[in-house]
Amino acid sequence: MRSLINILDLSIEEIDALIATANDIIANPERYREACKYKKLATLFFEPSTRTRLSFEAAMLELGGSVLGFSEANSSSAAKGESVADTAKTVSCYADIIAMRHPKEGAPLIAAQNATIPVINAGDGSHNHPTQTLADLLTIRREKGRLCDLNIGFCGDLKFGRTVHSLIAAMSRYEGIQVTLISPEELKLPSYVKKDILRKKDIPYTQTTSLEHAMPSLDILYMTRVQRERFFNEEDYLRLKDSYILDPAKLRGAKSDLCIMHPLPRVNEISVAIDDDPRACYFKQVLNGKFIRMALILMLLEEAKR
Ligand code: NCD
Repeated sequence: MRSLINILDLSIEEIDALIATANDIIANPERYREACKYKKLATLFFEPSTRTRLSFEAAMLELGGSVLGFSEANSSSAAKGESVADTAKTVSCYADIIAMRHPKEGAPLIAAQNATIPVINAGDGSHNHPTQTLADLLTIRREKGRLCDLNIGFCGDLKFGRTVHSLIAAMSRYEGIQVTLISPEELKLPSYVKKDILRKKDIPYTQTTSLEHAMPSLDILYMTRVQRERFFNEEDYLRLKDSYILDPAKLRGAKSDLCIMHPLPRVNEISVAIDDDPRACYFKQVLNGKFIRMALILMLLEEAKR
């Protein structure tokens, strides 16, 4: 049974096909209104979410399907000690496809190994977030017209940010990609990501603590929130949380066609004064996320029939 746990589970050709379907949905939404009639999506969210869960639910509803599920671990049998494997087997009896978010790295993989229906990883700990990456890729393609020959700056919590880890993995497969890593010392990209992805794929990368220095060379600036829930102590979080705040002054050295992205939620990382700048793409990412999730649900349900 085909699931989506890691963005690298999809080939470049499959990503192209998903982007093409998402673009077709955007252009012709009426053609898809009954595409998943009588199908059910279960959203199993063991960790808080606004965008990802509602985006999956809106995606299924716009395909004519229905949704069931829970939005916090303590309202499910996990609170009684049920294993992820048993939850996955149980939900396979009720639904046609699962979207699961879990604080533990690897939990959606365990679910996929035990479910008899496709499982989509909607974020596992600080590990992966493949559907956010699909939303990011659709946004980059629509805004820049390409996925190659780009300098992407990742700024903020590069240690715990799963959206960063997934997007770096995805971008490493395209030609002409350069990566600029902007973070405080304590929140640098984990060495396993550097070794297994950047160095292995020979992607040129630089590391800096200065957003201002990096700014002029960037085609894309991917801002991220400091991941409070993954810190061991509150003091460290408080010290690091406002390390980078993007405001109009910091954008002075930026390219005129810079694409400013953020997976959201934002806390303080981007001043609201940037929201009306034509380079701000983060709310477009939200909308694109729904369309690419529609494309993904269609693809996985189609493959499940075979
Ligand atoms: C991200 C996540 O959950 O990893 N949010 C999202 O799904 N768009 C980013 C974050 O929580 O900071």
